[in-house]
Amino acid sequence: MDKFVIEGGFPLKGKLKVNGAKNAALPLMAGCLLTEGISRLENVPSLIDILTMSQVLEGLGVKVRRKNRTLEIDTTHLSYYEAPYKPVKLLRASTLILGPLLARLGHARVCLPGGCNIGRRPVDLHIKGLRQLGARIEVNNGYIEAHTKGNLQGSSIYLNVPSVGATENLMLAASLARGITLIRNASSSPEVVDVANFLKRAGVKIEGEGTNLIKIEGVRQLNSVHHRIIPDRIEAGTLIIAAIITKGEISLEEICSNHLTSLFVKLRQMGAEIEAADRRVKVKGGNLLKPIRVETLPYPGFSTDLQPQITALACLARGTSVIRETIFENRFTHVPGLRKMGAEIKVGTSQVRTKGVSCLKGTVVRAPDIRGGAALTLAGLAAEGRTEIEGIHHLDRGYEGLEEKLSKLGANITRVED
Ligand code: EPZ
Repeated sequence: MDKFVIEGGFPLKGKLKVNGAKNAALPLMAGCLLTEGISRLENVPSLIDILTMSQVLEGLGVKVRRKNRTLEIDTTHLSYYEAPYKPVKLLRASTLILGPLLARLGHARVCLPGGCNIGRRPVDLHIKGLRQLGARIEVNNGYIEAHTKGNLQGSSIYLNVPSVGATENLMLAASLARGITLIRNASSSPEVVDVANFLKRAGVKIEGEGTNLIKIEGVRQLNSVHHRIIPDRIEAGTLIIAAIITKGEISLEEICSNHLTSLFVKLRQMGAEIEAADRRVKVKGGNLLKPIRVETLPYPGFSTDLQPQITALACLARGTSVIRETIFENRFTHVPGLRKMGAEIKVGTSQVRTKGVSCLKGTVVRAPDIRGGAALTLAGLAAEGRTEIEGIHHLDRGYEGLEEKLSKLGANITRVED
């Protein structure tokens, strides 16, 4: 197990390009199951989660080849309806193959994804929606077994939570269903919009993506697609907070600034200088950090995937900040590590209150999950002295070469075999 070793106190400086979005690549890889022949996804980051999803697809008879930053996904020999247990257990996003497999083969058997340490992560909305499209679904001995006689039938579905994954799964399934499907209270996230753009390229009629009402008119067959994945707004947000927490000044390129509006608003309120153009942003830290109130919400609200990172920043703001987490029931796994570094944080029900301290102190901490690990890394960049972050395989699931990117910006961070 590798670890990061960080000498804190180096302000980040320089320019960087942001990778393609993990949370667009994963549903799009599942979406390729719907298309005949070879589809190509460009700008795919090289991450553990992408590798795991590739293993899931290969377990179904699909060929996945990486050529630089492009994945070639050939479904010519798609023949199995049961996904391989091991990779599915490792990756919650594997549930996204349920809709496409069902729509394509009329049968799907996928083990229930594990919860993770940020919450229970149920898939009831996926199952309920697929049943409304005509699927017969049983859940027993930890497996989801789904069948459909003939084609799925379009239906009007209401999601009682604007679930990103459920919206994506149901859009994919509805693409080969007979007739029209409406998804109400759908997620309006940029990754959902990216999936809709992929499906439109494959010939599916879709309207309303990016709003909470999406209309899909199913087609008989989807042609193969060549699609470039959107930039990763969470990687961008993480690097922006890294620049501010180290009192640095960086520029990020190949981003979609309008995916980060809620973050920019909060960071400007804290005193950061942010100059945003459509595809690039300039960020300057260094001013006295003001405390902040943040509440995570479904997009376009403040992203839960940036909550641990802004909590780390708030630990150094002059005064008391309140950060409320409304999406997941336990997304405060980064708090013990931040406290160990000297942060003053009180955890209430679904919120934390941080009382700013003048500095954090380097020590040994363990990454609890992808974004909690990112939060501890940011804290280490700002802390006095040396911080060791164990368990960074979590980070490798969601960030491609984070230590190289941060080193390029002047951070003193190395990856060490633990
Ligand atoms: C996606 O997860 C992202 N993952 C998550 O990013 C992100 O935090 C989350 O959306 C934000 O909503 C990918 O896109 C691969 P949800 P997803 O369904 O789809 C409840 C990261 O760090 N819910 O939108 O699994 C659920 O419990 C990861 O990159 C149900 O109740 O999240 C949660 O409270 C972490 N029933 C809420 O909805 C369901 O059937 C939002 O979950 C589905 C979800």
